[in-house]
Amino acid sequence: MSTILLLFILLSFFPFSTPQPSCTLNTFSQNRIFSLCNSLPELSSTLHWTYHPSNSTVDIAYRAPQSADGWIAWALNPTGSGMIGAQAIFAFLDSTGSMTTISYPLANTRPMVRNISLSYKVYSMESEFLNGMMVIYATIELPGNNTRVNHVWQESNLFTNGFPNGHRTSGPNVLSTGELDLLSGQFTAAGNSRLHLKNRHGVLNAVSWGILMPIGAIMARYLRVFKSADPAWFYLHVACQISAYVVGVAGWGIGLKLGSDSKGITYQTHRNIGIALFCLATLQVFALLMRPNKNHKHRLYWNIYHHLTGYSVIILSVINIFKGFDILEPENKWKHAYIAIISALGGISVILEAVTWAIVLNRKKSESSEKFQQGGNGVNGKTGHDSRQHQEA
Ligand SMILES: *[C@@H]1O[C@H](CO)[C@@H](O)[C@H](O)[C@H]1NC(C)=O
Ligand SMILES: *[C@@H]1O[C@H](CO)[C@@H](O)[C@H](O)[C@H]1NC(C)=O
Ligand SMILES: *[C@@H]1O[C@H](CO)[C@@H](O)[C@H](O)[C@H]1NC(C)=O
Repeated sequence: MSTILLLFILLSFFPFSTPQPSCTLNTFSQNRIFSLCNSLPELSSTLHWTYHPSNSTVDIAYRAPQSADGWIAWALNPTGSGMIGAQAIFAFLDSTGSMTTISYPLANTRPMVRNISLSYKVYSMESEFLNGMMVIYATIELPGNNTRVNHVWQESNLFTNGFPNGHRTSGPNVLSTGELDLLSGQFTAAGNSRLHLKNRHGVLNAVSWGILMPIGAIMARYLRVFKSADPAWFYLHVACQISAYVVGVAGWGIGLKLGSDSKGITYQTHRNIGIALFCLATLQVFALLMRPNKNHKHRLYWNIYHHLTGYSVIILSVINIFKGFDILEPENKWKHAYIAIISALGGISVILEAVTWAIVLNRKKSESSEKFQQGGNGVNGKTGHDSRQHQEA
């Protein structure tokens, strides 16, 4: 188990990001030249700009790969970070096949994008589409002459009535935001620290809910069949599930924080399953404390309850981990690794199920032949009682 703990500690510090190419090699039509540029960490795009302190304006070029049926957008957010409040400029090919550039202030998460003027002055805006690249050119007044800006960029191929409408709400499309210092060019990706937090959330939860808890259940179900493992299986089971619970609640807490920081996008199902999981697992911890004595008449009901809750937690955990993969979209190897682990645990369970059934049936057979030989009722009762103790301890 300490190996597993070490593994998840190592994994949780492992970034999933990839390096970006340099932006300085990009050239622009009409010999436009910009004094600084930044290779943005998401959506393979670059931002180029020239700041004019004398009139607090900035000329920008936002460049991103796109196909003819898609749109790109770039925005400053003068009042906050992220999408809500961002003053966006959209570029796309219209029905006649020429590039259209419009501006739209994003007031809510379901915008009906139209051409509406922004909260700051836009001196010019245009766009072009060349060799699979769309570029937005704009000259804007820098709000408050503030050279540290929050900006957001986006792309999609979703349209309604010829206007951009909606984008993917997972993977890079929710990380494309950050703070930029227009004087130094230094960029702080808001997405980056969030991405690390998301990765940590993913690894902690996959290891605890998705791997340790099933292992704990396997130990309880199969080890206790071996008389020599009684009562060791019980302590192993409790130790495994308690450590899974502690790590799992840490990962769950990070998830709650990610959820409350994510303004505009809520992963409703993932969130609901996560909350249900926390409640069910907490119930299991309390159930452990209220466990009736082995021979108590209510112990059977407790066992049924404990098993039902336990299996529900495992099934919901695996479902939610796959939902998490769909949201985070890490490299495929992570998903494949998890599928391999969970399949291996499933395979081990099938084998142990067969082996332990064989053992139990054998034991029953020898016990009944013993009974046949001894014939005494009292002895028989005692033997039956003992074997049930081992099965249910
Ligand atoms: C904008 O701020 C810079 C310093 O960051 C200053 O030199 C410049 O005069 C300011 N421009 C205007 C128009 O206020
Ligand atoms: C702002 O000032 C620069 C020179 O510093 C000039 O080239 C540019 O045209 C001005 N922009 C606007 C929109 O007036
Ligand atoms: C969008 O509105 C601006 C004025 O706010 C105008 O100059 C521009 O031509 C309009 N663009 C389109 C595509 O309608």
